Amino acid sequence: MPGKILSNYEKSHPNSLALATRAAKLFPSGVTHDGRSFFPFPIYVERATGGKKWDVDGNMYVDFIGGHGSLLLGHRHPEVMDAADKASKRGTHFGSSHDLEIDWAELVLQLVPCAEKVRFTSSGTEATMMALRLARAYTNRDKIIKFTDHFHGWHDIVVGQQREDMSLPSSIGVPDSFYESLVILPPNDENLLMETLGKNDIAAVIIEPTGAHWGRHPIHQSFLEAIRRQTAKYGTLFIMDEVITGFRASPGGIQGKYNILPDLSTHAKILAGGFPGGCVAGKKEIMDILELRESDDAWNKEQRIAHQGTYNANPVSAAAGSKTLSLIKDGAHTQVADATTAELVFELNKLFQARALDASAWHVSSMWHLNLGENSPRSTDVETDPNYLPSGIDKPLLQPLRWALYNHGVDLMADGGMVSSAHGTEEIALTVEAFDLAINDLRNDGYL
Ligand SMILES: Cc1ncc(COP(=O)(O)O)c(C=O)c1O
Repeated sequence: MPGKILSNYEKSHPNSLALATRAAKLFPSGVTHDGRSFFPFPIYVERATGGKKWDVDGNMYVDFIGGHGSLLLGHRHPEVMDAADKASKRGTHFGSSHDLEIDWAELVLQLVPCAEKVRFTSSGTEATMMALRLARAYTNRDKIIKFTDHFHGWHDIVVGQQREDMSLPSSIGVPDSFYESLVILPPNDENLLMETLGKNDIAAVIIEPTGAHWGRHPIHQSFLEAIRRQTAKYGTLFIMDEVITGFRASPGGIQGKYNILPDLSTHAKILAGGFPGGCVAGKKEIMDILELRESDDAWNKEQRIAHQGTYNANPVSAAAGSKTLSLIKDGAHTQVADATTAELVFELNKLFQARALDASAWHVSSMWHLNLGENSPRSTDVETDPNYLPSGIDKPLLQPLRWALYNHGVDLMADGGMVSSAHGTEEIALTVEAFDLAINDLRNDGYL
C-alpha cells in the first residue's frame, strides 16, 4: 500500500534515482553488494564523517552501517586518514614485503588472544576460506559444521543456507558434492553438537560468536564454551569467525571478552580500518601449514597450503589497520561505542513505550537490533539475554520503516546497526527524533 512515505522518499532523492537508473544498466540489480540492494532504488552517498553521511541530494543521515561494520572509530578518523595518506605517498603496492605489514601483524598478535601467527588476506571471505582449508589440512578430515543462518562470506561451502528463509541447504552454482562436507546445525544445542562431533570426521566448527547476523539470533556464551570443550575432545578445530566482532566486542574480540580461546580466528573490517583487508590468526602449528620450506620439496608439493593474493597486506590497508588497532587497543573506544549503543537502545525503548508501539531495541556490544510488529517482545533493556528470542522486524514493515527513516535522516543496517565511538548524544537525539516521526508516518500510511 504505497502511501506518502514512499512518494516522499522518491521526491527527496532525485539525484540518487538518476544514478540508480544508470547503475541498473550496469550491475545485476543495480548494486555491487547484495546488502546494498534496496527498493525502489538505494541512496547514493557522496561523503561521510564521524557517525554521519550525506547523499548526492544533500540529505544527511545518522549512519548505522559504518562501512558494513568496519568503522569502530567512525568515518574518516583523522589519524587513520593521515596514516593511509602517508602510506599511499610511499606507493600503493610494492609487490614486496614492507615494514607496515609487520607493525600490523604485531598488533594483531598483541590483541587477538589465540593469535600465535597471522596471515593477511584481502577480505573476510578469503579469511574464512583459508581457515577452513587449514582446518581440513591439519585434521585430515573434510567435514565442516556451521550453524543455521550464520554468515561467513560468499565462497563455495559457506553459502549453504546463509539465511533462515532459504529452503535448500545448498546454493545453485556450487557443485552438490561440496555439501557432502557441510553439516548445518541449529546453535545452542550442545547434545546435538556432541553427537555430530562424535563421528570423528569433522575438521572444524565455525561460528559467528555473537550469533547469526551480528547477534540478531543470539547464542549463549555457554554454547561457545561447549564448542571449545567438545571440539577439543574430538580432535576438531574451533574457528571463531570474528570478522564482525573482532576489535569491536573488545580489543581482543569475543575471545578476549569471554576468555574462550579458539584454534583459529578470522578477521576483517575493523582490522583494516575501513580499507580492504582480512586475516586468519591462530595456533602456530596450524598456521605453519602455509609455510614454504627451503629444501623440503615433499613438504612444499604435498603438505602445505599455497596462498597468494595480489592485495594481501597492501601498504595502505596495513597503515590504516595499524593505526586503527593502536587507537582501539586500550579499550576506550569500545567502551564509548558500547555505552552510546546502550543509551540509544534505552532511549528507543522509552520512545516505543511512550508511543505504545509493539517494538523493542536491544544490543550486543555496539551492535543493535530491532523487533517491530505484532509479536514483538516489549523492551527488556538488557544486553542480549540468551533466553529471550528476538522476533525481528515483521517483513511487511521493514521497507516502509527504512523509507521513513531515510526521509528523516537515519540509515539502518538491516534491522538495526553498528555504532562507532564517533556517534554521541547528537546522533542518539537525531535517531530517536527520526523514529518518532517515522512512527507517525507508518501510522498515517496504515502500516501500523
Ligand atoms: C561474520 C562474517 N564473516 C565473514 C564475512 C565476509 O567478509 P567480507 O565481506 O570482508 O568478505 C562477513 C561479512 O560481513 C561477516 O559478517
